[in-house]
Amino acid sequence: MKTVLITGTSSGYGRATAVHFHAQGWNVIATMRTPRTGVLPESDRLRVVGLDVTEPASITAALEAAGPIDVLVNNAGVPSIGVFEGTSMAHAREVFETNTFGVMATTQAVLPQFRERGSGVVVNVTSSVVLGHMPLTAVYKASKMAIEGFTSSLALELAPFGVWAKTVQPGACLTTNFSARATHDTAPDELVPAPYAPWAKKVMDSFTAQEQFTKETDVAEAVWRAVHDTTGQLRFPAGPDAVWLAQAK
Ligand SMILES: NC(=O)c1ccc[n+]([C@@H]2O[C@H](COP(=O)([O-])OP(=O)(O)OC[C@H]3O[C@@H](n4cnc5c(N)ncnc54)[C@H](OP(=O)(O)O)[C@@H]3O)[C@@H](O)[C@H]2O)c1
Repeated sequence: MKTVLITGTSSGYGRATAVHFHAQGWNVIATMRTPRTGVLPESDRLRVVGLDVTEPASITAALEAAGPIDVLVNNAGVPSIGVFEGTSMAHAREVFETNTFGVMATTQAVLPQFRERGSGVVVNVTSSVVLGHMPLTAVYKASKMAIEGFTSSLALELAPFGVWAKTVQPGACLTTNFSARATHDTAPDELVPAPYAPWAKKVMDSFTAQEQFTKETDVAEAVWRAVHDTTGQLRFPAGPDAVWLAQAK
């Protein structure tokens, strides 16, 4: 029986991915910053393990607790929305710590076992922001574009060992905790300094008027497809809005 380790399974796409792999008969190591029960099905094939991707000791401890795994899904991520002029560099660094360096560090910790075994898949969850023109996301988009570049190069150096690296690019979803987190703890004038306000309102209005959104299950199914694909496809858009953007490119 195969084992998948997924980061950020307390909600949203990560939780749906854990549920999907479990339903398909896999062993699931569902990692959370703050492990809690009641979020995921109770099962002897599903283990909740603590993991904060910004803490090296936490990554080491989680992998020790997990034992051998076949697939790593780097799903944990934080949002960042706002005008770049109003964004502090401290905030930009925090976003990169999770979305970019957290993904790299967790991947690096898993690679020795994949290389030695001659098999394994790393799936990095980025975003459809990498596919289209998305204002108000300069820092977030940069953090995810970095992982697109990282993954495409990493895939080449892992291929000789029978190990795969791929990205899943989810579209926008308003039902995960993500959009609420995007504005939480941020003062409105930091998010959008006054001179940008009229333009930013138009951008936000057109975003919320978008007709197609991604569902949590779209992402879980795309991760499943990415894990099983053997054609060499590197990028897997997930959800109708992301697929549309990928085709329009
Ligand atoms: N929703 C969207 O519109 C959208 C669109 C495209 C891409 N994405 C990407 O999809 C992924 C999942 O997002 P989501 O929409 O499911 O949002 P979500 O419901 O907010 O889930 C994010 C998950 O990441 C975890 N996390 C945050 N920082 C972490 C850290 N330092 N270490 C470990 N876990 C951490 C959160 O854990 P806590 O509960 O402990 O905070 C949570 O479980 C993210 O990578 C996001 O960038 C989302």
